[in-house]
Amino acid sequence: MDSAMPDASPSGSPVAKKLKLASAPTIEAPAVGPTTTTVAVPNASSGIRTGEKAQYREARKGKAELPKKKYYRQRAHANPFSDHNLDYPVHPEAQDWSVHYPAYFPAAEGSTQAKVEVADIGCGFGGLLVALAPKLPNTLMLGLEIRTQVTEYVSERISALRLQATEQKEGEEKMHHYNNISVLRANAMKFAPNLFERGQLSKMFLCFPDPHFKARKHKARIVSPGLCAEYAYILRPGGIAYTITDVEDLHNWMTHHFSEHPLFERLTEEELEGDVGVETMLDETEEGKKVTRNKGSKWISCFRRKEDPEW
Ligand SMILES: C[S@@+](CC[C@H](N)C(=O)[O-])C[C@H]1O[C@@H](n2cnc3c(N)ncnc32)[C@H](O)[C@@H]1O
Repeated sequence: MDSAMPDASPSGSPVAKKLKLASAPTIEAPAVGPTTTTVAVPNASSGIRTGEKAQYREARKGKAELPKKKYYRQRAHANPFSDHNLDYPVHPEAQDWSVHYPAYFPAAEGSTQAKVEVADIGCGFGGLLVALAPKLPNTLMLGLEIRTQVTEYVSERISALRLQATEQKEGEEKMHHYNNISVLRANAMKFAPNLFERGQLSKMFLCFPDPHFKARKHKARIVSPGLCAEYAYILRPGGIAYTITDVEDLHNWMTHHFSEHPLFERLTEEELEGDVGVETMLDETEEGKKVTRNKGSKWISCFRRKEDPEW
């Protein structure tokens, strides 16, 4: 590992323990564009499926019941240096975002078109997105996930939640619409600037990224000097990059590289108190829940994107 600075703020620290979930205001989704219950995953691969898994997945499409994870499990690592034969837009405007967020397209007359503002890089099974959706109820959020079947699971999960919301009966406690979250199969290590304009994002999350323990594999880590430069490009000044991991060495690595980058500054524990992003990533991602069950530590560091320097 390179000269990572030792640094400690595991979730067992006083700061993390103090963090409590803030309640978010409930705001109705604007009635713009057609409402659909389908989340398109335009880039998802459509390989031939056989057996029970495939049958299950076909049979439950378009249903309001939540998909079962066991039918979408896939081996843990996908090669982050491959483009996986995916098509990427040549620039963010070339991507059709309306298939992801149909309720927000086109923008209501007199309003500016909503764009993705929050990215969950390596979103896994989508726990963070689903938990954040009602807390930031009209902020468009996108999960990027490299594994096909995992992406499909998240897509199906969001579709089911949207359908449940539209099928609610009178008198039932109103659930969130989930129109503000979606997922895209993509290699975030290679193509983030194809998907997001300069300064587009207010928040980006790196939750429990693959640790790539061996030194010769460190180049596959989702944080590096080059990737920090890309993250500084897609985050707006004042935007926040959130990191959390249960691997201390990876925490030190990520903290070191973000701290070394001239466009990032680390947020203090006081600044993070009550932050909705921190509270959610601590407890709501699938990996985070696993770490809690196993009584492991969670290491957090978050970085503010500084203003651009005078050129
Ligand atoms: C350990 S899991 C964590 C998932 C989720 N963030 C959580 O906390 O539950 C890491 C995820 O990142 C995905 N991933 C790894 N490299 C990626 C890349 N270059 N682009 C997009 N996703 C990636 C993996 O497929 C995996 O689902």
